[in-house]
Amino acid sequence: MKIKNKKILIIIGGGISAYKSLDLIRLLKKNKNEVKVILTKSGKEFVTPLSITTLTNSKTFEDVFDKNSEAEIDHISLSRWADLIVVLPATANFMTKLSLGKAEDLATTVILASNKDILLVPAMNVRMWIHKATQRNVKTLKDYGYLFIGPEKGEMACGEYGEGKMSSPRQIFSFLDNYFNKKNIIKKRKLRALVTAGPTREYIDPVRYISNESSGKQGYEIAEALSRLGIETTLITGPTNLVSNKDIKTKKIITASEMFETVKKNLPVDIAVCAAAVTDFKPIYKSKSKLKKDNLRLKSFELQKNIDIVEFLSKNNKHRPKIVIGFAAETENLDKNALSKLKQKNCDIIIANDVSKKDSGFNSDYNRVSIIDNSGKIKVVKKNKKSFIANIIADIILDKILINDRSFN
Ligand code: C5P
Repeated sequence: MKIKNKKILIIIGGGISAYKSLDLIRLLKKNKNEVKVILTKSGKEFVTPLSITTLTNSKTFEDVFDKNSEAEIDHISLSRWADLIVVLPATANFMTKLSLGKAEDLATTVILASNKDILLVPAMNVRMWIHKATQRNVKTLKDYGYLFIGPEKGEMACGEYGEGKMSSPRQIFSFLDNYFNKKNIIKKRKLRALVTAGPTREYIDPVRYISNESSGKQGYEIAEALSRLGIETTLITGPTNLVSNKDIKTKKIITASEMFETVKKNLPVDIAVCAAAVTDFKPIYKSKSKLKKDNLRLKSFELQKNIDIVEFLSKNNKHRPKIVIGFAAETENLDKNALSKLKQKNCDIIIANDVSKKDSGFNSDYNRVSIIDNSGKIKVVKKNKKSFIANIIADIILDKILINDRSFN
């Protein structure tokens, strides 16, 4: 299927490959898509507004705040108009501005004000691309959820060889095709996801409880990544300091039993990601009044096991989600222990996270994970932001759903 009837806003940056943007515009227009263009000041050194206007049949928005252009269509409505924003070429300098959140001209302002996905198509000299500063910016932008295609390896305009060549208009077009196809399938299928996150608390008396170090960050980021893909997402969360995006239906609970009851109420779903660090045990008795210090030989310290929510979901014959994902926080034999947990709990994927290191895992913004599926295939993700890891997990989930359900293609 070829994309059509989409509204694409193209921002043309200042690099020699800017001329290729004209081919992309032609391809998009030939397939009955609408295209509007913002030509940056440096982009204008490489292509002219006249050639763009001729191809798009639309005014070329130039990278200056001129009163006429702002009155006609401002930076907010330009971004609201688009189904997707594509920046090509995304130069090293432009990506630096984006990673700093600058809004110094029309292009950067539109992007900062955008509520749409943004696809960056980098092109630059190989040394500029592999420079630590650029790589750091790319990492930041991926973490913000920007999409990337390329750069490719090849001979560059400057005569050097390496990674930095812009993806071809055909490659970009097929990326867009794939992107909109996926969105379309998600919309048609009305996919629903449930994510558990955070710790649970098990009260001994009205003010004391058993809990754990979980911050909830990884689960919140996964809910956010799934929701960004257009999946209707419910987040069931224990007590955390986090705030979720308003598109995510968020249910706050305290205890494991409440989490379990809320999970049941929100079935059926297509996808379940159990990222919560559910407290394994709860006191058999909860004292109604605060226990006295001298009364510490407590019968309330007799514990019983909480129900295993992920296991309940993946062994549930009536409402088994198509994909059930569990987590395994481990300090040693990461993959081996996680794989046996996957089997024991009948999950489709288990995400093993290494909680032995102080700079990642519990309560950190970073994580190191192995994503293991039920065929034993392992994808190792080195230390990275939890938001970055969440995007990878969301993509894997989606690919798995689409592969399992070819009939929909
Ligand atoms: O067995 P363990 O607690 O290590 O398993 C961790 C995985 O199981 C996580 O995905 C966690 O959310 C889930 N779990 C659960 N309900 C429990 C305990 C763990 O869903 N009561």
